[in-house]
Amino acid sequence: MSTKQFDVVVIGAGPGGYIAAIRAAQLGFSVACVDEWSNAKGGAAPGGTCTNVGCIPSKALLQSSEHFEHAGHSFAEHGIDVAGLKLNLGQMLKRKDTVVKQNNDGILYLFKKNKIAFFHGRAAFAAAAVGTYDISVTGAANETLTAKHVVIATGSNARELPGAPFDEKLILSNTGALTIDAVPAKLGVIGAGVIGLEMGSVWRRLGSDVTVLEGLPVFLGAVDEQIAKEASKLFIKQGLKINLGCKIGAITPGKKDVTVEFVDAKGEAQKAVFDKLIISIGRTPNTNGLGADKVGLQLDERGFIAVDGDCKTNLPNVWAVGDVVRGPMLAHKAEEEGVAVAERIAGQHGHTNFNTIPWVIYTSPEIAWVGKTEQTLKAEGIAYKAGTFPFMANGRARALGDTSGMVKFLADATTDEILGVHIVGPMASELISEAVVAMEFKASAEDIARICHAHPSLSEATKEAALAVDKRTLNF
Ligand code: FAD
Ligand code: NAI
Repeated sequence: MSTKQFDVVVIGAGPGGYIAAIRAAQLGFSVACVDEWSNAKGGAAPGGTCTNVGCIPSKALLQSSEHFEHAGHSFAEHGIDVAGLKLNLGQMLKRKDTVVKQNNDGILYLFKKNKIAFFHGRAAFAAAAVGTYDISVTGAANETLTAKHVVIATGSNARELPGAPFDEKLILSNTGALTIDAVPAKLGVIGAGVIGLEMGSVWRRLGSDVTVLEGLPVFLGAVDEQIAKEASKLFIKQGLKINLGCKIGAITPGKKDVTVEFVDAKGEAQKAVFDKLIISIGRTPNTNGLGADKVGLQLDERGFIAVDGDCKTNLPNVWAVGDVVRGPMLAHKAEEEGVAVAERIAGQHGHTNFNTIPWVIYTSPEIAWVGKTEQTLKAEGIAYKAGTFPFMANGRARALGDTSGMVKFLADATTDEILGVHIVGPMASELISEAVVAMEFKASAEDIARICHAHPSLSEATKEAALAVDKRTLNF
């Protein structure tokens, strides 16, 4: 075992870690990044949850399954007849794996380009001295790294239900949900959150009868109520069976199926048998094997690494970013924190604006939002104006054949500053960026209403919703 010295050692090569490493290298530091994720052949697979079992493979399958659904249902309306449509699930999964590998390879290329030393293995704090930390790496690489600064970006793991551990055969986390090799006739999903809706949509489009069991009595509680209501209507119309207010009881795996006992919203005991069960009830921070106690690294009461607003931990020159710290568990939030930390290490004033982090649920239609919801504004007693515009009245949406949903603006009643923008509809993931930029620059709804938007484009619905704040829509 040898010892190597670096200015910055980053633990974890997910979106938080690998981006922090790149920014630190750009700023002139000597940087190492350690990640333990292996591909099926045992090789390094940097990119974390996001690249390997999260954002990227889920979006690949969402795209493929949407093509399949369009070919079966909406192509005929466009005058395209598809004879003998057949699902080749093996090829669909293979394509998804290829997309993942392209991303893994892309990150390895970026490490090389930025002269970042990458180590494939598990990193743990071995010792702390004044001004330096020793980090042991074990696995494919066996080294001791000495670092002046450490950035922890060790991510999160799927949360299990007590008594129902993931076996990834019948009881699936996100990992198993992305590799089902035959379309299950009956698929159960516990948790109607982001993963439940995205993965439920994938398998419904491919032919599964999908039942979602949600604990809370409301659908998508964090989403603007009007948008959530509209989305719920659309998902139910598509055939997702969403049951709110369920209290989950025993989960019993059999030889080929799994039985879930639950009490429904009416208080009646129910029993459902599924071919596969996805459990998506949130994620827990991952500090396994990091040696936090060895150096006195503080965790909070929920197991997250305790950090201040600048991602500083209780240890000097030790920082933590991404899913392993407070805040939304989103790849782009992790990346922003990674950049900000690298800049702070360099003595600059890196900043993450938590008020303008966009959320997207990649269902069809997509749901996207930034800023405050109407129910939050009411609860906080903030006077606001609201404006909505339906995609039904947008020419591009009609040409696309996707007129579901709306854009909604919420602006301050006095100053007209945009406080929140909420979209359910086609390409909401792309449309939301305009709202993020506007809010970052503290724009008013009137600013967006007066900007020329290309015609015909979905973004005209954004302009029209901004006009609607002042009751001046032109096309509705
Ligand atoms: P991670 O991506 O989890 O990376 C942590 C890395 O650290 C891993 O590679 C792990 O192996 C490594 N590691 C941990 N401990 C050690 C150690 N001791 N030594 C060495 N290596 C270690 N977010 C979005 O913004 N958009 C999406 O569309 C989206 N889709 C998702 C879909 C699914 C199914 C899931 C599960 C998540 C999705 N997310 C999405 C969330 C997103 O994946 C996470 O927010 C993001 O990956 C967090 O990045 P991170 O760098 O903090 O951690
Ligand atoms: P989630 O927090 O989005 O949803 C979990 C759902 O499960 C909630 O509706 C919750 O009320 C419900 N639940 C919790 N305990 C329950 C119980 N015992 N019984 C029944 N229902 C229960 O978590 P999810 O879907 O697991 O995703 C984890 C995180 O990953 C997300 O919060 C998000 O941060 C990230 N992610 C982001 C995506 C995106 O940006 N498009 C896609 C997928 C995941």
